[in-house]
Amino acid sequence: MSRTTIYRCQAPSNIALIKYWGKRQAELQWPANDSLSMTLSHCASTTNASIHDGPNHIFRYADRQNEDRTNAKAITHLEFLARKLGFEAPLKVISQNNFPSDCGIASSASGMAALTIAAVAAWTNARSLAELSTKGYDRNKLAHLARMGSGSAGRSLFGGFVKWTAGAAADAQNLQQVLPTDHWELADIIAVVSQAKKPRSSREAHADAWSSPLFAPRLAETNDRMRRTEAALTERNLEALGQLIEQEALEMHAVMMTAQNPANYLTQQTVMLLSWIREERYAGRFPAYFTLDAGPNVHIICEKKDAQIVIERLTATYPGVELIADHVGNGPNLTFAETDL
Ligand code: PMV
Repeated sequence: MSRTTIYRCQAPSNIALIKYWGKRQAELQWPANDSLSMTLSHCASTTNASIHDGPNHIFRYADRQNEDRTNAKAITHLEFLARKLGFEAPLKVISQNNFPSDCGIASSASGMAALTIAAVAAWTNARSLAELSTKGYDRNKLAHLARMGSGSAGRSLFGGFVKWTAGAAADAQNLQQVLPTDHWELADIIAVVSQAKKPRSSREAHADAWSSPLFAPRLAETNDRMRRTEAALTERNLEALGQLIEQEALEMHAVMMTAQNPANYLTQQTVMLLSWIREERYAGRFPAYFTLDAGPNVHIICEKKDAQIVIERLTATYPGVELIADHVGNGPNLTFAETDL
């Protein structure tokens, strides 16, 4: 029997308020514009990594339905990390999402963040984030490594509200927390209208953004929208924030739908819910706003104190729609366990 150390990272998903859509340069994951997200608390990936004797990396993951799968993107990312950081030991990695994957709840953000942290921890024998940092892998370094697996994953390294700036060159990107978790208790109530796998991966669809006639006007606007969004967050002004994030989500989907290779992630139920949220708000029933990721599921953003009324109204009106009640959270953690094999 031999003792094996398992390095376990739990990393949250995040919901972008200002979206990352389109890349200036794909290989270096250089985004077309700055983005800003809220780190979630409940929706997370838990990833266990350990050194193993076999010749190759092993990656398995189970989503909430407990289907056991592998993922080519995860293996590619492990190989990238090993090459870039100079580690040779093959890893065995087992991951689990506590929410549906590949349908617009940013499972690649939490998944790639958790994978990056757990893998580097296993290679360096680091048993906490603090220890990882003393070994030369602070959050910032890990965030830049994680974004190479999936752009949005870089933002999941930090808690609270997180900004990813594109910078003037691919190597001048920046990832940082702009406001802490306790700045504003915002909720994200996710209406899961579909768990079907996305019709197109976001990786493919990013590349098509440039072919949309709406993309250049969007890029001309995003800096200004970012400035106003940061101000609304700082001032805790939900009305201002809400209008900006709805515009932003609809604009991203308009770009997707008007690309030469159009990606239509929205279903009839999505559109129905978007209208319903606005009708309820206009009728004064609750102050809540929507945003969307690259998928059909609707993220309803409101203050945590209003989450219950939103959930009650939604459940009463659409009893078949599953809801995940989430809120702003603290970012990843890293632990370890010893096992006998
Ligand atoms: O991280 P990727 O490559 O899966 O891109 C996802 C981008 C969006 O989720 C649609 C928006 C964002 O900023 O998270």
